[in-house]
Amino acid sequence: MAKKATPEMKAVEKYEGKRSCLIQILHEIQKEYRYLPEPALRYVSEAIDVPLTDIYGVATFFKAFSLEPKGKHTVTCCMGTACHVRNSAGVLDELKRTLGIEPGETTEDMLFSLETVNCLGACALGPVVVIDDKYYGEVTPVKVKKIIAEVKKGEGKK
Ligand code: FES
Repeated sequence: MAKKATPEMKAVEKYEGKRSCLIQILHEIQKEYRYLPEPALRYVSEAIDVPLTDIYGVATFFKAFSLEPKGKHTVTCCMGTACHVRNSAGVLDELKRTLGIEPGETTEDMLFSLETVNCLGACALGPVVVIDDKYYGEVTPVKVKKIIAEVKKGEGKK
C-alpha cells in the first residue's frame, strides 16, 4: 500500500520543491502540526536541498514559527504601554492562574498556549487579549475567566 502523504510531503509538493518557497512550506507544516517537528524539517531539508541549519535559522527568526508543540488555541496577552497602564499585568496574572501556565508554555491537555506581545495595534481597546484571531478589548481579570470558559465550552470542556 502506498504511504500516506505527510503534511511536509504535501507542502513540498504544493510549492514544487522550490527553495525560494521555504517560508511558505514551513507555514503549511506549522498549520498542520501547530509547530515544526524535527523530522518534518529534516524531510524538507533533503527534499528542497537546503541545509538543516539554514531551515532552523528561518524557523527561529520568525515568531510565527514554533519548534515546540503548541496548544490548539494561542492566547496572546498584550503587555505594551497602553495596555500596561490599564492593568494588563493583572489580566496576565489571571490568565496564568486560570490556565495554570506561564507565558511560553502550553497546557497539559494541549488546548492553550500562552504568549505575551508588546503591542497588538489596538491600543485604544486596551488591555487587549487575542485568542487565535479573535480580539477581546478592555479585558479585566474577571473577564478573563469568562473568555477562557467560553473557549473551553466551544471545545466541549468545562
Ligand atoms: S499596547 Fe496593547 S494593543 Fe497596543
